[in-house]
Amino acid sequence: MKKLTINYLLIITIAFLLPLKSFTQKFKGLALKPPMGWNSWNHFACDVNEKTIREIADAIVSSGMKDAGYIYVNIDDCWHGQRDSLGFIHPDPERFPSGMKALADYIHSKGLKLGIYSDAGWKTCGGRPGSRGHEYQDALTYASWGIDYLKYDWCYTDELNAHGAYLTMGHALVDAGRPIVFSLCEWGNNKPWEWGKEIGHLWRTTGDIYNCFDCVIDHGTWKSWGVMQILDMQEGLRVHAGPDHWNDPDMMEVGNGMPVNEDRAHFSMWCMLAAPLIAGNDVRKMTKETVEILTNREVIAVDQDSLGIQGFKYQAIDSIEVWVKPLINNQLAVCFLNRGKAAREISFDWSRHVVKDDFSGMIYNFSQKEYNIRNLWLKKEAGTTRNPLKSTLGGHDVLMVKLTPVK
Ligand code: GLA
Repeated sequence: MKKLTINYLLIITIAFLLPLKSFTQKFKGLALKPPMGWNSWNHFACDVNEKTIREIADAIVSSGMKDAGYIYVNIDDCWHGQRDSLGFIHPDPERFPSGMKALADYIHSKGLKLGIYSDAGWKTCGGRPGSRGHEYQDALTYASWGIDYLKYDWCYTDELNAHGAYLTMGHALVDAGRPIVFSLCEWGNNKPWEWGKEIGHLWRTTGDIYNCFDCVIDHGTWKSWGVMQILDMQEGLRVHAGPDHWNDPDMMEVGNGMPVNEDRAHFSMWCMLAAPLIAGNDVRKMTKETVEILTNREVIAVDQDSLGIQGFKYQAIDSIEVWVKPLINNQLAVCFLNRGKAAREISFDWSRHVVKDDFSGMIYNFSQKEYNIRNLWLKKEAGTTRNPLKSTLGGHDVLMVKLTPVK
């Protein structure tokens, strides 16, 4: 009788503990700051192979990008070969003859991490095998290769339920046992900011970025978006982001051909948004200006601030927008963005402003408190908030400063 009671208690305990496992839907703490790295898609599209990826990893180290924080080397679509008779996926044998494990070993030997791409549907957007029906198998395969990051796309998903599909892969990754950052890429179609936090570490908020500052490209059944269009689509989403769960306005186009001022504005705004900083250019062939933008540590520090508060638009007058991002130690990043093509004189009298952030509860009352101003692109001190800030701001450019309370 006593034995029976003990067994009974044991069964009840296990029955209560079992559901806990299914709540373990993601590896916690892998992205306490917005992930930083590189991804092949924006520049190389389907033209990926192991030689290029190795060279990219080398360049990330030699250019100083690794030291600036870019750690993930992510292979996007088209690395795939076929599934074998048991359903296991293999890389394209011609493009990746040494296999993914060898590539991961190489990337890891450089102190970097390797990311890969798949899709919740039957096929990837590039028509390669998707993970539908193979989620656990694929997660185990990625773990055995030493993969550190998975971007999971949303093509060929027909009637699938997005939350459910991402949950399945999230569970598969956790069960495979290797900590892998999970990047949800369903373009914001099903409001992933409302359910993605428990499953993944970041989620795309929009369709694909296009390498232009202010444009919409219509592909018929879908559109891709310029930097300003994507920026506008972030409206209202900041309350969903924070450490380990980020809004992802897509990979960057810095260094892919926009003028330097537009690249600088693009990079600055992504940092104001606490966006994942995933470079999308050919880092083997960068101009000095591109390196300077991508590795500006003071601007990166705004993105990587430990509070993880996404910035917001504080004011918009004509073509000039003023964006703010609360930072640790009562500091504040302020970015003046000129969306127009013509240069503009700006004059900002701090004493007339109180920046109040209802989301974080932070208040910056400039008539009561003085702040030192540091210009983050010129990398020099620029007085205090006691005097109005006056400057000429070029078209499609930014003036980005950090305010620190005067002691
Ligand atoms: C989708 C994604 C892109 C890229 C391509 C690859 O369009 O949104 O970021 O991964 O697929 O085919």
